[in-house]
Amino acid sequence: MQRARFLAGWVLLLVAMVALAGCGSTTDSGGDGDGGGGGAAAGGLPKLAQKDNYTVCFPQTEENNPWRLAQTASIKEEVQKRGWKLVYTNAAGSAAKQVADVQSCIAQKVDVIWLPPREEKPLAVAVKSAKQAGIPVFLLDRNVDQSLAKAGEDYVAFIGSDFIEEGKRAADWLIKETGGKANIIQLLGTSGASPANDRRKGFEDAIKGQSGMKVLASQDGDFNRDKGRQVMETLLRAHPNVDAVYAHNDEMAIGAIAALKAAGRKPGQDVTVVSIDGERAALEAIVDGELGASVECNPRFGPKAAETTVAYAGGQTIAPKIINPDKFFDASNAKENIAAAY
Ligand code: AHR
Repeated sequence: MQRARFLAGWVLLLVAMVALAGCGSTTDSGGDGDGGGGGAAAGGLPKLAQKDNYTVCFPQTEENNPWRLAQTASIKEEVQKRGWKLVYTNAAGSAAKQVADVQSCIAQKVDVIWLPPREEKPLAVAVKSAKQAGIPVFLLDRNVDQSLAKAGEDYVAFIGSDFIEEGKRAADWLIKETGGKANIIQLLGTSGASPANDRRKGFEDAIKGQSGMKVLASQDGDFNRDKGRQVMETLLRAHPNVDAVYAHNDEMAIGAIAALKAAGRKPGQDVTVVSIDGERAALEAIVDGELGASVECNPRFGPKAAETTVAYAGGQTIAPKIINPDKFFDASNAKENIAAAY
Protein backbone atom coordinates (compact mmCIF):
# COMPACT_ATOMS: atom_id res chain seq x y z
CA MET A 1 0.00 0.00 0.00
CA GLN A 2 2.79 2.37 1.05
CA ARG A 3 4.77 1.43 -2.08
CA ALA A 4 1.69 2.15 -4.25
CA ARG A 5 1.31 5.65 -2.69
CA PHE A 6 5.04 6.31 -3.19
CA LEU A 7 4.76 5.38 -6.88
CA ALA A 8 1.60 7.47 -7.37
CA GLY A 9 3.46 10.47 -5.89
CA TRP A 10 6.27 10.09 -8.42
CA VAL A 11 3.81 9.75 -11.29
CA LEU A 12 2.07 12.99 -10.23
CA LEU A 13 5.42 14.79 -9.96
CA LEU A 14 6.43 13.62 -13.43
CA VAL A 15 3.10 14.74 -14.93
CA ALA A 16 3.55 18.19 -13.34
CA MET A 17 7.13 18.47 -14.71
CA VAL A 18 6.02 17.54 -18.23
CA ALA A 19 3.17 20.08 -18.04
CA LEU A 20 5.54 22.83 -16.88
CA ALA A 21 8.02 22.04 -19.63
CA GLY A 22 5.14 22.30 -22.11
CA CYS A 23 4.15 25.73 -20.76
CA GLY A 24 7.71 26.92 -21.15
CA SER A 25 7.95 25.92 -24.76
CA THR A 26 4.65 27.67 -25.64
CA THR A 27 5.91 30.92 -24.17
CA ASP A 28 9.31 30.77 -25.82
CA SER A 29 8.20 30.00 -29.34
CA GLY A 30 5.62 32.79 -29.34
CA GLY A 31 2.24 32.24 -30.93
CA ASP A 32 3.07 33.36 -34.44
CA GLY A 33 -0.27 34.72 -35.55
CA ASP A 34 -0.43 34.25 -39.28
CA GLY A 35 2.10 37.02 -39.76
CA GLY A 36 4.29 36.75 -36.68
CA GLY A 37 7.91 36.34 -37.58
CA GLY A 38 8.30 33.63 -34.92
CA GLY A 39 11.13 33.81 -32.39
CA ALA A 40 12.28 36.95 -30.68
CA ALA A 41 13.66 40.28 -31.87
CA ALA A 42 16.03 42.50 -29.88
CA GLY A 43 15.22 42.64 -26.16
CA GLY A 44 13.15 39.44 -26.38
CA LEU A 45 10.32 41.19 -28.21
CA PRO A 46 8.25 39.14 -30.69
CA LYS A 47 9.42 39.46 -34.27
CA LEU A 48 7.20 40.67 -37.10
CA ALA A 49 7.59 39.10 -40.54
CA GLN A 50 8.00 41.37 -43.57
CA LYS A 51 4.94 41.06 -45.79
CA ASP A 52 2.57 43.09 -47.93
CA ASN A 53 -0.54 42.72 -45.79
CA TYR A 54 -0.83 42.89 -42.05
CA THR A 55 -3.80 42.28 -39.82
CA VAL A 56 -3.73 45.14 -37.32
CA CYS A 57 -5.69 45.12 -34.07
CA PHE A 58 -6.83 48.56 -32.85
CA PRO A 59 -8.81 48.26 -29.60
CA GLN A 60 -10.05 51.82 -29.10
CA THR A 61 -10.81 53.13 -25.59
CA GLU A 62 -14.08 54.94 -26.35
CA GLU A 63 -15.61 56.96 -29.16
CA ASN A 64 -17.29 59.74 -27.20
CA ASN A 65 -15.26 62.75 -28.23
CA PRO A 66 -13.86 64.38 -31.39
CA TRP A 67 -10.26 63.47 -30.44
CA ARG A 68 -11.03 59.74 -30.31
CA LEU A 69 -13.08 59.91 -33.52
CA ALA A 70 -10.19 61.65 -35.27
CA GLN A 71 -7.73 59.04 -34.01
CA THR A 72 -9.90 56.14 -35.20
CA ALA A 73 -10.47 57.82 -38.57
CA SER A 74 -6.72 58.24 -39.05
CA ILE A 75 -6.03 54.56 -38.25
CA LYS A 76 -8.84 53.33 -40.52
CA GLU A 77 -7.73 55.55 -43.38
CA GLU A 78 -4.09 54.43 -43.16
CA VAL A 79 -4.89 50.72 -42.91
CA GLN A 80 -7.26 50.98 -45.86
CA LYS A 81 -4.74 52.97 -47.92
CA ARG A 82 -2.15 50.22 -47.43
CA GLY A 83 -4.64 47.41 -48.20
CA TRP A 84 -4.14 45.89 -44.73
CA LYS A 85 -6.86 44.38 -42.55
CA LEU A 86 -8.15 46.07 -39.39
CA VAL A 87 -9.66 44.41 -36.34
CA TYR A 88 -11.32 47.38 -34.63
CA THR A 89 -13.18 47.38 -31.32
CA ASN A 90 -14.63 50.09 -29.06
CA ALA A 91 -14.22 49.52 -25.31
CA ALA A 92 -16.87 52.22 -24.62
CA GLY A 93 -14.96 53.64 -21.67
CA SER A 94 -14.28 50.33 -19.88
CA ALA A 95 -10.70 49.26 -19.18
CA ALA A 96 -11.99 45.72 -18.48
CA LYS A 97 -13.62 45.59 -21.93
CA GLN A 98 -10.44 46.89 -23.52
CA VAL A 99 -8.42 44.11 -21.84
CA ALA A 100 -10.95 41.58 -23.21
CA ASP A 101 -10.68 43.19 -26.66
CA VAL A 102 -6.89 42.69 -26.60
CA GLN A 103 -7.37 39.06 -25.54
CA SER A 104 -9.77 38.56 -28.43
CA CYS A 105 -7.18 39.97 -30.86
CA ILE A 106 -4.61 37.55 -29.43
CA ALA A 107 -7.06 34.67 -29.96
CA GLN A 108 -7.58 35.84 -33.55
CA LYS A 109 -3.78 35.75 -34.07
CA VAL A 110 -3.49 39.25 -35.46
CA ASP A 111 -0.04 40.29 -36.69
CA VAL A 112 0.35 43.42 -34.60
CA ILE A 113 -1.55 45.40 -31.95
CA TRP A 114 -1.78 49.22 -31.94
CA LEU A 115 -3.05 49.88 -28.44
CA PRO A 116 -4.18 53.16 -26.83
CA PRO A 117 -4.32 51.92 -23.19
CA ARG A 118 -7.27 53.54 -21.43
CA GLU A 119 -5.67 53.16 -18.01
CA GLU A 120 -2.02 52.58 -17.09
CA LYS A 121 -2.28 49.51 -14.85
CA PRO A 122 -4.93 47.11 -16.21
CA LEU A 123 -3.66 47.36 -19.78
CA ALA A 124 -0.06 46.57 -18.76
CA VAL A 125 -1.20 43.00 -18.12
CA ALA A 126 -2.79 42.77 -21.57
CA VAL A 127 0.45 44.03 -23.15
CA LYS A 128 2.35 41.20 -21.46
CA SER A 129 -0.17 38.60 -22.66
CA ALA A 130 0.34 39.77 -26.24
CA LYS A 131 4.10 39.46 -25.87
CA GLN A 132 3.71 35.92 -24.53
CA ALA A 133 1.55 35.07 -27.53
CA GLY A 134 4.29 36.37 -29.88
CA ILE A 135 2.41 39.48 -31.06
CA PRO A 136 4.28 42.82 -31.10
CA VAL A 137 2.48 45.76 -29.50
CA PHE A 138 2.88 49.47 -30.22
CA LEU A 139 1.30 51.80 -27.67
CA LEU A 140 -0.46 54.73 -29.29
CA ASP A 141 -1.09 58.02 -27.46
CA ARG A 142 -1.34 56.64 -23.90
CA ASN A 143 1.20 54.68 -21.90
CA VAL A 144 1.11 51.82 -19.38
CA ASP A 145 2.60 51.75 -15.89
CA GLN A 146 6.35 51.48 -16.41
CA SER A 147 6.83 49.40 -13.27
CA LEU A 148 4.57 46.73 -14.82
CA ALA A 149 5.56 46.76 -18.51
CA LYS A 150 8.40 48.49 -20.35
CA ALA A 151 9.02 49.76 -23.87
CA GLY A 152 11.66 47.73 -25.69
CA GLU A 153 10.99 44.74 -23.40
CA ASP A 154 7.27 44.09 -23.15
CA TYR A 155 6.08 46.26 -26.05
CA VAL A 156 7.99 47.72 -28.96
CA ALA A 157 7.46 51.46 -28.44
CA PHE A 158 5.24 54.26 -27.23
CA ILE A 159 4.16 56.67 -29.97
CA GLY A 160 2.48 59.85 -28.79
CA SER A 161 2.72 63.28 -27.22
CA ASP A 162 4.79 64.32 -24.21
CA PHE A 163 1.95 64.79 -21.70
CA ILE A 164 4.16 66.30 -19.00
CA GLU A 165 5.30 68.92 -21.49
CA GLU A 166 1.67 69.61 -22.45
CA GLY A 167 0.83 70.36 -18.80
CA LYS A 168 3.88 72.58 -18.53
CA ARG A 169 2.97 74.52 -21.69
CA ALA A 170 -0.55 75.12 -20.36
CA ALA A 171 0.90 76.36 -17.05
CA ASP A 172 3.46 78.63 -18.73
CA TRP A 173 0.71 80.25 -20.81
CA LEU A 174 -1.53 80.71 -17.75
CA ILE A 175 1.28 82.23 -15.67
CA LYS A 176 1.97 84.73 -18.43
CA GLU A 177 -1.70 85.49 -19.07
CA THR A 178 -2.56 86.08 -15.39
CA GLY A 179 0.70 87.74 -14.37
CA GLY A 180 1.35 84.79 -12.03
CA LYS A 181 -1.82 85.28 -9.96
CA ALA A 182 -4.65 82.80 -10.32
CA ASN A 183 -7.13 80.76 -8.26
CA ILE A 184 -7.39 77.64 -10.36
CA ILE A 185 -9.84 74.79 -10.73
CA GLN A 186 -8.22 71.79 -12.40
CA LEU A 187 -10.44 69.37 -14.33
CA LEU A 188 -8.57 66.07 -14.41
CA GLY A 189 -8.69 63.48 -17.18
CA THR A 190 -9.71 59.86 -16.57
CA SER A 191 -8.34 58.61 -13.28
CA GLY A 192 -5.50 56.12 -13.87
CA ALA A 193 -4.85 57.28 -17.44
CA SER A 194 -1.32 58.40 -18.33
CA PRO A 195 -2.36 61.79 -19.82
CA ALA A 196 -4.27 62.62 -16.62
CA ASN A 197 -1.31 61.73 -14.39
CA ASP A 198 1.28 63.46 -16.57
CA ARG A 199 -0.70 66.58 -17.47
CA ARG A 200 -1.33 67.12 -13.78
CA LYS A 201 2.35 66.67 -12.94
CA GLY A 202 3.58 68.93 -15.76
CA PHE A 203 1.19 71.70 -14.74
CA GLU A 204 1.62 71.47 -10.96
CA ASP A 205 5.44 71.29 -11.20
CA ALA A 206 5.47 74.37 -13.43
CA ILE A 207 3.41 76.52 -11.05
CA LYS A 208 5.24 75.32 -7.91
CA GLY A 209 7.60 78.28 -7.79
CA GLN A 210 4.77 80.80 -8.31
CA SER A 211 3.37 81.89 -4.95
CA GLY A 212 0.38 83.58 -6.60
CA MET A 213 -0.80 80.47 -8.47
CA LYS A 214 -3.13 78.35 -6.31
CA VAL A 215 -4.99 75.20 -7.25
CA LEU A 216 -8.27 75.49 -5.32
CA ALA A 217 -9.55 72.05 -6.32
CA SER A 218 -8.81 69.20 -8.74
CA GLN A 219 -11.47 66.69 -9.77
CA ASP A 220 -11.89 63.91 -12.32
CA GLY A 221 -14.01 64.88 -15.34
CA ASP A 222 -13.12 61.70 -17.30
CA PHE A 223 -12.06 63.69 -20.44
CA ASN A 224 -15.79 64.12 -21.05
CA ARG A 225 -17.69 67.32 -21.92
CA ASP A 226 -20.77 66.71 -19.82
CA LYS A 227 -18.83 65.39 -16.84
CA GLY A 228 -16.58 68.44 -17.10
CA ARG A 229 -19.67 70.66 -16.99
CA GLN A 230 -21.12 68.84 -13.97
CA VAL A 231 -17.84 68.87 -12.02
CA MET A 232 -17.35 72.57 -12.80
CA GLU A 233 -20.90 73.34 -11.61
CA THR A 234 -20.19 71.68 -8.24
CA LEU A 235 -16.70 73.13 -7.79
CA LEU A 236 -17.90 76.60 -8.72
CA ARG A 237 -20.36 76.54 -5.81
CA ALA A 238 -17.59 75.51 -3.39
CA HIS A 239 -15.01 77.95 -4.82
CA PRO A 240 -16.73 81.12 -6.08
CA ASN A 241 -13.33 82.90 -6.02
CA VAL A 242 -12.11 80.84 -9.00
CA ASP A 243 -10.62 82.95 -11.79
CA ALA A 244 -8.85 80.29 -13.88
CA VAL A 245 -9.63 76.80 -15.17
CA TYR A 246 -7.08 74.27 -16.37
CA ALA A 247 -8.82 71.37 -18.11
CA HIS A 248 -6.88 68.26 -19.19
CA ASN A 249 -8.74 68.30 -22.51
CA ASP A 250 -10.83 70.62 -24.66
CA GLU A 251 -14.06 68.71 -24.16
CA MET A 252 -13.98 69.32 -20.38
CA ALA A 253 -12.99 72.96 -20.97
CA ILE A 254 -16.03 73.43 -23.20
CA GLY A 255 -18.21 71.82 -20.52
CA ALA A 256 -16.66 74.14 -17.92
CA ILE A 257 -17.32 77.18 -20.10
CA ALA A 258 -21.02 76.18 -20.27
CA ALA A 259 -21.14 75.82 -16.46
CA LEU A 260 -19.46 79.19 -15.96
CA LYS A 261 -21.91 80.90 -18.31
CA ALA A 262 -24.89 79.22 -16.61
CA ALA A 263 -23.63 80.61 -13.29
CA GLY A 264 -23.45 84.13 -14.72
CA ARG A 265 -19.65 84.15 -15.02
CA LYS A 266 -17.81 85.42 -18.10
CA PRO A 267 -15.24 82.89 -19.39
CA GLY A 268 -12.43 84.71 -21.15
CA GLN A 269 -13.08 87.84 -19.07
CA ASP A 270 -13.41 87.05 -15.38
CA VAL A 271 -12.27 83.43 -15.68
CA THR A 272 -9.29 82.44 -17.87
CA VAL A 273 -9.60 78.94 -19.35
CA VAL A 274 -6.76 76.86 -20.81
CA SER A 275 -6.85 73.26 -22.06
CA ILE A 276 -5.27 70.61 -24.26
CA ASP A 277 -6.03 68.91 -27.63
CA GLY A 278 -6.75 71.57 -30.27
CA GLU A 279 -10.11 70.24 -31.50
CA ARG A 280 -12.26 72.39 -33.80
CA ALA A 281 -14.78 73.43 -31.11
CA ALA A 282 -11.88 74.63 -28.94
CA LEU A 283 -10.40 76.72 -31.74
CA GLU A 284 -13.85 78.25 -32.29
CA ALA A 285 -14.10 78.99 -28.54
CA ILE A 286 -10.71 80.74 -28.74
CA VAL A 287 -11.95 82.84 -31.65
CA ASP A 288 -15.08 83.66 -29.59
CA GLY A 289 -12.83 84.80 -26.74
CA GLU A 290 -14.12 82.21 -24.23
CA LEU A 291 -11.17 79.80 -24.25
CA GLY A 292 -7.73 81.36 -23.83
CA ALA A 293 -5.49 78.69 -25.36
CA SER A 294 -5.22 75.00 -26.20
CA VAL A 295 -2.00 72.98 -26.32
CA GLU A 296 -2.18 70.64 -29.30
CA CYS A 297 -2.24 66.86 -28.77
CA ASN A 298 -2.30 65.46 -32.28
CA PRO A 299 -4.68 62.48 -32.71
CA ARG A 300 -3.63 61.54 -36.27
CA PHE A 301 -1.61 58.41 -35.55
CA GLY A 302 -2.27 56.27 -38.63
CA PRO A 303 0.76 57.14 -40.79
CA LYS A 304 3.30 57.04 -37.94
CA ALA A 305 1.96 53.75 -36.54
CA ALA A 306 2.12 52.05 -39.95
CA GLU A 307 5.54 53.49 -40.81
CA THR A 308 6.99 52.31 -37.49
CA THR A 309 5.43 48.86 -37.87
CA VAL A 310 7.02 48.43 -41.31
CA ALA A 311 10.38 49.66 -40.02
CA TYR A 312 10.19 47.16 -37.15
CA ALA A 313 9.38 44.29 -39.50
CA GLY A 314 12.37 45.37 -41.60
CA GLY A 315 14.66 44.91 -38.62
CA GLN A 316 15.29 48.59 -37.91
CA THR A 317 15.97 49.66 -34.34
CA ILE A 318 12.89 51.41 -32.97
CA ALA A 319 13.27 54.10 -30.31
CA PRO A 320 11.28 53.12 -27.20
CA LYS A 321 9.57 56.57 -27.16
CA ILE A 322 8.54 58.34 -30.34
CA ILE A 323 7.23 61.80 -29.46
CA ASN A 324 4.85 63.70 -31.75
CA PRO A 325 5.64 67.37 -32.32
CA ASP A 326 2.63 69.44 -31.17
CA LYS A 327 1.52 73.00 -31.94
CA PHE A 328 -0.03 75.59 -29.63
CA PHE A 329 -3.24 77.47 -30.35
CA ASP A 330 -4.26 80.86 -28.97
CA ALA A 331 -5.89 84.05 -30.23
CA SER A 332 -2.94 84.66 -32.58
CA ASN A 333 -3.51 81.55 -34.77
CA ALA A 334 -6.78 79.77 -33.85
CA LYS A 335 -8.80 81.14 -36.77
CA GLU A 336 -6.38 80.07 -39.50
CA ASN A 337 -6.22 76.53 -38.07
CA ILE A 338 -9.98 75.88 -37.88
CA ALA A 339 -10.30 74.54 -41.44
CA ALA A 340 -7.77 71.76 -40.78
CA ALA A 341 -9.10 70.89 -37.33
CA TYR A 342 -11.27 67.87 -36.43
O1 AHR B 1 -4.93 60.29 -24.58
C1 AHR B 1 -5.20 61.52 -25.14
C2 AHR B 1 -6.45 62.10 -24.58
O2 AHR B 1 -7.49 61.17 -24.67
C3 AHR B 1 -6.98 63.33 -25.25
O3 AHR B 1 -6.45 64.50 -24.77
C4 AHR B 1 -8.41 63.21 -24.89
O4 AHR B 1 -9.22 64.17 -25.49
C5 AHR B 1 -8.66 61.81 -25.17
O5 AHR B 1 -9.80 61.23 -24.70
